[in-house]
Amino acid sequence: MRRYYSGPDYRRARSIAELAVMARRRLPHFAWEYLEGGAEDELTLGRNRQGFADIALLPRTLVPCSVTHTQRSLFGRTLPLPIAIGPTGYNAMLYRDADIHLARAATELGLPFTLSTVSTHSMEQIVEAVPEVNLWFQLYCLRAPKVRQDLLQRASAVGCTTLLLTCDAVLLGNREWDKRNFVRPRQLSLRNKFDVLAHPRWMAQTLWPQGLPNLGNLERYLPREQRNLEGAAHFIGSQMDTGFDWDALARLRDRWPQRLVLKGVLHPADAETAIALGLDGLVVSNHGGRQLDGVPASIDCLPAIAAAAKGKLTLLLDSGVRRGTDILKACALGADAVLLGRATLYGVAVGGKAGARHALDLLAQELRLALSLLGTPDLNQLDRSPLCASPSTSFTVS
Ligand SMILES: Cc1cc2nc3c(=O)[nH]c(=O)nc-3n(C[C@H](O)[C@H](O)[C@H](O)COP(=O)(O)O)c2cc1C
Repeated sequence: MRRYYSGPDYRRARSIAELAVMARRRLPHFAWEYLEGGAEDELTLGRNRQGFADIALLPRTLVPCSVTHTQRSLFGRTLPLPIAIGPTGYNAMLYRDADIHLARAATELGLPFTLSTVSTHSMEQIVEAVPEVNLWFQLYCLRAPKVRQDLLQRASAVGCTTLLLTCDAVLLGNREWDKRNFVRPRQLSLRNKFDVLAHPRWMAQTLWPQGLPNLGNLERYLPREQRNLEGAAHFIGSQMDTGFDWDALARLRDRWPQRLVLKGVLHPADAETAIALGLDGLVVSNHGGRQLDGVPASIDCLPAIAAAAKGKLTLLLDSGVRRGTDILKACALGADAVLLGRATLYGVAVGGKAGARHALDLLAQELRLALSLLGTPDLNQLDRSPLCASPSTSFTVS
């Protein structure tokens, strides 16, 4: 059995923020910036955390709270927590076999794991390594119908019943850190090459002996001489269909009879169109602040979307979720569950599967504690009544 270096002792991390500090120490500069960075001035990245911070909680007291209920029914399955791991690409840059570690950590807790189109492991490899995984697959708006159709057939063949179509990234956001760190796609600048040498543990654990792996799902569509990260990055860039519109989505709806979820919706009118097309779910998301800088925090867009869509399809939210109280606030405002992006990536970057599991355990503990302290120990009883705009806002206690 392969032995992994487990990195700094992730078990000492008492919060997602502490895991992030450890991840920053462990990763070379370019990998950390890839994980953490947002687009342009990172206004949206900052708003995602501020949006949660601006919501205050007003607890009720003397409510028995020895037992908390955090289950959620999502797409026909009962989950123990209102959480799924969201899609993130190039994960093996953070830790060898990171996709498999994330899938295992989610599966241990009975939670779904979403595999990105640009994952380092293919969907077939994930299912082989983690046969019981509740696998969701994320698709980009790809140009070539053959590639799109083949990916859908493969997803269906491996037992994936939920497809997330990412609609906010047909063009790549202006990520300046990427431009600084790479002289060409996937070609590190000299400064960054030296920085990699200064991280021998990361190199041994992540690069040795094969170097960075290719993009597992896409490899077969590339000409043999381009089957490397640079070729794959170029291929995916050329494949993004900037003409993809609601009609194209309607055609995809016809071709994918299983659950179809649109990821990257912020406007309530788009939520209404998605309902009219018969979609099964929406992810209220700004891509973790990595796409259009200046858009509002996802949590600030949720109330209007919930008003338009609640009860008509499944509502998910991501971007900025780092605390159990964030999950509580999202659920109180109408989300059925949240997707995790960076939170579990910090964990996997410092401790592989166990690190990702630690991140999930921290959030689960925080959520249970917060529900109890709020006086609403059953998540399914939670509504907006304990929320107020900010601690200084006056409100009437009913
Ligand atoms: C390193 C990284 C890679 C990502 N890759 C993808 C991807 O391949 N497909 C996708 O739809 N979203 C991708 N996202 C966006 C996430 O799915 C999610 O929307 C975002 O991370 C949520 O914000 P948070 O990280 O603040 O929780 C990525 C995000 C990060 C941080």
